[in-house]
Amino acid sequence: MTAKECIIGRRSIRRFTQQPVPHELLEQLIETASFAPSWKNTQAARYIAVEGERKDKLAACTTIWAGNKAIMDSAPMVIALTVVTGRSGFERDGSFSTGKGTGWQMFDAGIASEVFCLAAYEQGLGTVIMGLYDEAEAAELLEIPDGQELVALIAIGYPAQSPDAPQRKPVADLLTYKK
Ligand SMILES: Cc1cc2nc3c(=O)[nH]c(=O)nc-3n(C[C@H](O)[C@H](O)[C@H](O)COP(=O)(O)O)c2cc1C
Repeated sequence: MTAKECIIGRRSIRRFTQQPVPHELLEQLIETASFAPSWKNTQAARYIAVEGERKDKLAACTTIWAGNKAIMDSAPMVIALTVVTGRSGFERDGSFSTGKGTGWQMFDAGIASEVFCLAAYEQGLGTVIMGLYDEAEAAELLEIPDGQELVALIAIGYPAQSPDAPQRKPVADLLTYKK
């Protein structure tokens, strides 16, 4: 699979088989994802692999959109992606490096998420990044340590569907040139 085939072929998967995600394979994916670029190589993204009873409880933290409960019920594993706060986009004295404030840590977490999802796809796994969940409730359930912030949940497993790609905007809408 070429990089282009991987990027274009990856889809958000919302129904999974019951086959568990092997922990050894997950660890390989995390190692691959660790090669994502990050602010001054701070590598602030962290991954919590949630399975079993706690995953079932996490699936209930979806009162803002029940669709994500069905996804998490179907997936054998959910990755809670967190970021170590106060590093990406920050100076050593704790001040912001730029006017974007805390924006860079979310930027880094976003890059890490996509690299993780692409690595998973290349290994035959499906993923979907989820932003619609009850954040405070999920963070408490997952016992997110002090100094980390829960960014997104990523359902992962072997796909039980192969959805078509949602339409993409034409390049002309996305790109402008300036001289
Ligand atoms: C930040 C972010 C949050 C998302 N939140 C959800 C979500 O809560 N539930 C869901 O089913 N999909 C969610 N998605 C998946 C998008 O709907 C999906 O990426 C988009 O429709 C394009 O489809 P594709 O990933 O198959 O290319 C999210 C994606 C991103 C990047």
